[in-house]
This record gives sequence, structure tokens and C-alpha cells, in this order.
Amino acid sequence: MIEYDPYMPEIKEDPLPIYARMREECPIYPLERWGGWALTRFQDIWDFCSHGDSLSSANGNQGPTLLEGRPSALQTLAGMDGEAHRRLRKALFPHFGPSAARRLADPMRTWARECIEAHLESGRIDAVRELGQQIAVRVSCTIGGVPVSDCDLLLDLVHRFFAREEGVEGMVEEGRNAVLGLWDYLETAARERRASGREYGDALDTLTQFRDQDGQPLSDERIARHMLLLVVGATETFPKVFATALLRLEQHPDQRRDLCADPSLIPTALMEALRFDTPTQWLGRTVIRDFALGEHRFEAGQPVILLFPSANRDAAEFDQPDRFDIHRNPPRILTFGQGDHRCLGNHMAQMEGRILLEEVLGRFPEYTVLRDETVHPPTEFVQGYSHFPIAFQA
Ligand code: HEM
Repeated sequence: MIEYDPYMPEIKEDPLPIYARMREECPIYPLERWGGWALTRFQDIWDFCSHGDSLSSANGNQGPTLLEGRPSALQTLAGMDGEAHRRLRKALFPHFGPSAARRLADPMRTWARECIEAHLESGRIDAVRELGQQIAVRVSCTIGGVPVSDCDLLLDLVHRFFAREEGVEGMVEEGRNAVLGLWDYLETAARERRASGREYGDALDTLTQFRDQDGQPLSDERIARHMLLLVVGATETFPKVFATALLRLEQHPDQRRDLCADPSLIPTALMEALRFDTPTQWLGRTVIRDFALGEHRFEAGQPVILLFPSANRDAAEFDQPDRFDIHRNPPRILTFGQGDHRCLGNHMAQMEGRILLEEVLGRFPEYTVLRDETVHPPTEFVQGYSHFPIAFQA
């Protein structure tokens, strides 16, 4: 049988060939080391996510804590279950939904233009560091209610959060220190907001005013934990998708021409980029009640991981899935997860992507990727480029 372990070097480098064989040979793959399963097919993952009441995120949704069955120390929205999760998610939704994304469209465009203007003279810009992450972190600061002027400090902590070391499974010491730094920063922000007695209508207001189902407020410490997800979840994922979108368009000049000729195709092109180069390799759940998916029985206590990039290349769902095609416009993809915890920031991410593609293709449609200078660090978690310089003539 095909060999798979989420931490094996081949998976950190180039997982798609292994995922393809798993879908074919063993789509519900036994993770013997942890007594759990890895799901690889689109429909299986979709159906699995519809069993939300039999699943828990209390051991987190990723990394060794989930696989080893230990309660997650992060304690974010993504680690909550049931009514407590539904209630908090509903309270936060107005800061993330389609109208919130529309409200941030103009600031996003202004930030994108400022970033691009700053690099016009040099004729090159790093699409991840100097563009995608700059917009993503500013969006997080604005939603979260922390000063945009702190964005470099936050970006630095996010980079450390995702640092990986050969031979270490999951987060390393540097990442744990970054978590402490982020908690500290965000807890101070919550405390100062409460002390100020002022309201700004942002997510920090929502969190400081929130009452759980027993009428209890959130502590500043707990608010910091929820805010951490906003900063981390938004800042690492989107820029990687943006970079690979630029790469795929450069590799398919005919599609790049189509997009420049008709920018109304940008939202579907972005969907295709999200499908084709899905950054989040896996997230998962712990089964808390036995249930069956077809012939397969999941048992309480088992960790189950969902290989989203594999699902997005499943030929049972997508015609010629390994072909990049901006005209595809599929009815569903799994890049943002599915079910109760589906990505709260997906409207923001799509708006950021739309605006950045409009600005880049509108100004320098003939950009070239400086391949020799791109960096694609090995990781089991959010895969993609950490540095992605492009050259252009304005
Ligand atoms: C391309 C960019 C993005 C990708 C690929 C992505 C991916 C995901 C995925 C797969 C989940 C599901 C987690 C689970 O099922 O356990 C998720 C949840 C979440 N994402 Fe994103 N995300 C992106 C952008 C963003 C942005 C821009 C934000 C914030 C502005 C954000 C905030 C969140 C939050 C708060 C959750 C937790 C939702 C919950 O547990 O109810 N994400 N994301």
C-alpha cells in the first residue's frame, strides 16, 4: 500500500502525487500511528463535514495535539464546538461576511496601490511579502481593531508562528514563543479597549461585549486567543494563493490574456487558483460519536484529517483536475473547509484576491516571475511560496 504520513519529507515537498495514489488505492487511509484516518476524496470530506454533531474540535483542528488527542492550548474559535461555537461565530460574522468585505474593498485597493507605488521605480515586487501579506495583515488589523501601524510587528510574529524545523513535527519553539508574543499583544489590546470605554464597531468591540449562553463575558486572555486566529488564519494563507495565481497565469499566457481582456473573469480565475494550489494541506476533527460514511465506520476517539488539496484534485468532482483553467467555475471547492467551521474569512480572502489581481494585471500584465529568487519552504501545514518576486515594466 502507498505510504503516507502527514510529516514525511515527500509530503512537505510535493504531496500531490502521493494524494493521487491515496485517492485511487486507499481513499480512507489508516493513520496507524495515531489510530485515526486521513480522507482524500472530495465527496467523502464533504459528507464527513456534514456530521458536525458527531465531531469535535476541542483537540484543535491541526498538528500533534489533534493526532495525539490532547486538548489544544490555542483555544480559538476554530477549537470550539456546538452551541458555544455557533453563538460566537454568529456574533463575529458581520465583520467577515460579504458586506464587510465590500466595505473594505476601497481600503484594500488603496493599500495595494501604495504597496505597488513604492516599488514602481525598482520594477520588482515580492508578491507575498510586499503585497499579499501587506494587504492581508492590514485587513486583519482593521477587522480586529488593532493599529495598522503595528502590521510589521504582527507579520514578524506570524512568520515565526509558521516556522518549521527538519525532524520536528508541527510547531517549533520559535512558533510557541510567537504565540506568547501574539497573546500578549492582543490581550493588551483587549484590556486597553475595555479601559477606554470607547466603541469602534470592530471585532474587538464584539468580543469585549460578547456574552456566552450563560451570560458570561469573555476574559481578555480568551479574547486574545480568538484574535490570534484572525491574525494568523488570514495572513499566511491568502498571500500564498495570490502568488500561485500569478505563477499559473504566467505559465498559461493565453489565460492571462483572456483575463486582461475581460477582468470580469477574475473572480472565477481566483476560484481556480484556490482549487489548483490549495495551501492548507490538512485540518481535522476528533470523532466523539460513532457514525458511518458508506461502508466505513468512524469510532469515537479517532482523529480524522481532511486532505483538502487532494479533494480539490479529485477527478470524480472535477473534469481533468490537473488542468488549470480559469473558465472552469465549479459549483464547489474545499479550499475553505466545509460545515460548521467553514472559513469565516473566505469573503475577505476573495475580495483581497480580486483587488490584487485587478491591480497587478491592470498595471503590468506582462510581469515575469523571478523563479530563481522564489522560496517554497517545506512544511506539512500551509504550503506555498514565502518569497515570490516578480519583475515588471510599469
Ligand atoms: C485563501 C485564504 C484562506 C484559506 C485557504 C483559509 C482556510 C480556512 C479553512 C480550511 C478553515 C476551516 C477550519 C476548520 O474546518 O477547522 C478556515 C477557518 C477560518 N478562517 Fe480561513 N482561510 C483563508 C483566509 C482567511 C481570512 C482572510 C480570514 C480572516 C480575515 C480567515 C479566518 C478564519 C477563521 C476565523 C476561521 C475559523 C472559523 C470557525 O472555526 O468557525 N481565513 N480557514
